[in-house]
Amino acid sequence: MRIAISTGGGDAPGLNAVIRAAVLSARSRGWDVLGSKRGFAGLLGDDEIIPLTTDSVRGIMAHGGTILRTTNRGSPFAYPVLQPDGSYKEIDRSDEIIENARNLGIDALISIGGDGSLSIAQQLVRKGMRIVGVPKTIDNDVAGTVMTFGFDTAVNTAIEAIDKLHTTAESHDRVMVLEVMGRDAGFIALYAGVAGTADVILVPEIPWSMDLVCEKIRSRDAAGRRFSIVVVAEGATLPNGEVGIIGESLPGQLRRVGGVAETIAREIQVRTGKETRSMVLGHLQRGGSPTGYDRLLSTRFGGAAVEAVEAGKWGHMVALQSPHIVTVPIDEVLREPKRVEPDHDIVRTARAVGISFGDRGV
Ligand code: F6P
Repeated sequence: MRIAISTGGGDAPGLNAVIRAAVLSARSRGWDVLGSKRGFAGLLGDDEIIPLTTDSVRGIMAHGGTILRTTNRGSPFAYPVLQPDGSYKEIDRSDEIIENARNLGIDALISIGGDGSLSIAQQLVRKGMRIVGVPKTIDNDVAGTVMTFGFDTAVNTAIEAIDKLHTTAESHDRVMVLEVMGRDAGFIALYAGVAGTADVILVPEIPWSMDLVCEKIRSRDAAGRRFSIVVVAEGATLPNGEVGIIGESLPGQLRRVGGVAETIAREIQVRTGKETRSMVLGHLQRGGSPTGYDRLLSTRFGGAAVEAVEAGKWGHMVALQSPHIVTVPIDEVLREPKRVEPDHDIVRTARAVGISFGDRGV
């Protein structure tokens, strides 16, 4: 048996822990393991294919990033190819992957990625490739699993930032607006906001108004709490329907999101007269060493992915359905993205402990 492993999309803490567990589990069965560098680029001949041995994965559990590197511009179905005039043309190179995998004697692929990579995997499965998926993303927006790996580390990084912002905000009687990642999902903002005791949490799933955000800040002031912490998910839509945009995306990439925090901060300052500052936490949330939770989840996912390969679960993804790791068809997972449920107990409890979502009066 010879398997390959690839990591695609944005990196997430725990990728190396998944690779390590999958390689060691496969090697203990006597299988050969190859790594495709930079997502599918290795399998397309645009980057390396490397052997993954027990030595290759020694000491990588605690390391962020991915030893296989990654890309978010690598869909083989719309592969951006540089043209002589400097522009990019997207071409379908999926047949090449299948042929190259066959030539390399690869019996199965473990594809570690978020919804984008899972959708590519599913299209390749339809074309006859034998693939098992592992759900990765700090955004936690993949359906079918209670948690994706990388999310817990990102949340902890955000909590640390909120803790630090508290002390400086309180010293200066300021409002601090912290923007966290999550793309179109508000999980990082919600979890970190509640655990970090934010005063206002703004997420894409709950429409909010500037009036109600400012009402909350004023009411805190009136109660002698002269500082406030607002945590906003980068994908939260402004009340006028605009979203934040930082910079231009490159060809083959999803649109970049981010930048709402500064607009919100400016408006809060104008309306309340309180000095308000913004901060974008950005890629710090993707870096660093995975938390204990993510190390364990990643290790369980890596081991379960090899078991799924052994069982021939092509087109399935490993998933956490507490307390067990199970496999679910990727087709089902992709039917609907996972989002914060506005009536989830975390949201209800957050409201009960005094956190505003900018949608109700104080
Ligand atoms: O999907 C993970 C994520 O970190 C999102 O939260 C964020 O919007 C996006 O990736 C950023 O991607 P990039 O690194 O390409 O800017």
